[in-house]
Parts: sequence; C-alpha cells; structure tokens
Amino acid sequence: MGFCEVVEGRHSIRAFQERDVEDASLEAILRAARRAPSAGNLQAYRVAVARASSVRRLLAQAALDQGFVAQAPVVLVFLADAAASAVKYGRRGETLYATQDATIACAYAQLAAANAGLGSCWIGAFHEDKVRAALGVEEPLRPVALLPLGYPAEVPRMTPRRSLAEMVLDIREDA
Ligand SMILES: Cc1cc2nc3c(=O)[nH]c(=O)nc-3n(C[C@H](O)[C@H](O)[C@H](O)COP(=O)(O)O)c2cc1C
Repeated sequence: MGFCEVVEGRHSIRAFQERDVEDASLEAILRAARRAPSAGNLQAYRVAVARASSVRRLLAQAALDQGFVAQAPVVLVFLADAAASAVKYGRRGETLYATQDATIACAYAQLAAANAGLGSCWIGAFHEDKVRAALGVEEPLRPVALLPLGYPAEVPRMTPRRSLAEMVLDIREDA
C-alpha cells in the first residue's frame, strides 16, 4: 500500500477479532512511532504496550467504560514525559513539547497499524490517574492517548471531512 492509500484507508475501528497481533507487526508499529519527529529529538514520551487482559480491562474502565478497548488484544498507551522535555525546554517542554512528542508518535503508530492491516481507535477520553494506576506508572508521566490495536471485527463507518476551503487559511498576500 502506498502512503496515500494508508492515510485514506484508515478509519477508527471499535470492534476487534480475538486473533492476536503478530510480534513482527507490533514491532513495525513501534519502530514507526519511534521515527516520529520530537522537540530537540528528545523523544520525550514512553509507550506502554498492554497485552495482559487484566490491564486492558482496567484501561477500558479508565476510558469511561469503553468496552472495546479491552477487546483489542493490544493497547498502546502513549505517555508524555514532561520531565524529559523540561530538561532542555523548561516550561514549554513540560506543558507543550512532551505532549506533542507523544501525540505525533501515536499518529505514526496509528498509520503503521493501518499499513499492517490492523484496526485501531484513538482514545482520548479517560481518567489520567486511572490509566497511570492500571500501568503502574507515576507522574510526571502523563497519558496522552490510548490506542487499542487488533484485527477489525467490523466494517468501519466512513466519517466525513470538511472541505479544504473550510480548513485552509489561505494567506497569499504580503502584509
Ligand atoms: C484526540 C482524540 C480523541 C478521541 N477520543 C475517542 C474516544 O475516547 N473514543 C472513541 O471511540 N473515539 C475517539 N476518537 C476517535 C474519533 O472519534 C475519530 O477519529 C473521528 O470520529 C474520525 O473518524 P475516523 O478516525 O474513522 O476517521 C478520538 C480521536 C482523537 C483524535
């Protein structure tokens, strides 16, 4: 699949087969995430790979009881490492760059998952303290996104997008 096909073909998946995710696919996804840009190349994030069913259940509960999170055989959790970014960038690193680093890495992982024929869904609605407790990690690590991964058990719903004209602020003239 070419890049544009992967981008166009990715849709959120909220139902998963029991079939496990192959280690090679998971590694390819993690390698893609690691290629993401990051402020000062500090890579100020961690990725938790949750395969244990008990942990996946806790993550689903933390995510406001979105049960399909536990149905996925793997749940990746992207955690911003504010302390790592603050070392070089101070408050901006702490409050912005670490979050961006983790977010971009998750976006790369989601596309890599689509490229591997896997379904995923970005999960942003969760209680941060409950996610930390489920993973056994502490502040300043901040969960930014959960990404349940698995083989799809549904045909994805096509979601519309606004027109480019609505999206783009077209600034052509010199001020
Ligand atoms: C920041 C963010 C938070 C999201 N949180 C959730 C969520 O908690 N639960 C969920 O089912 N989908 C969640 N989504 C997925 C969106 O609903 C989905 O990406 C959007 O409707 C577009 O559909 P598509 O991914 O199929 O293109 C989230 C997406 C983003 C980017």
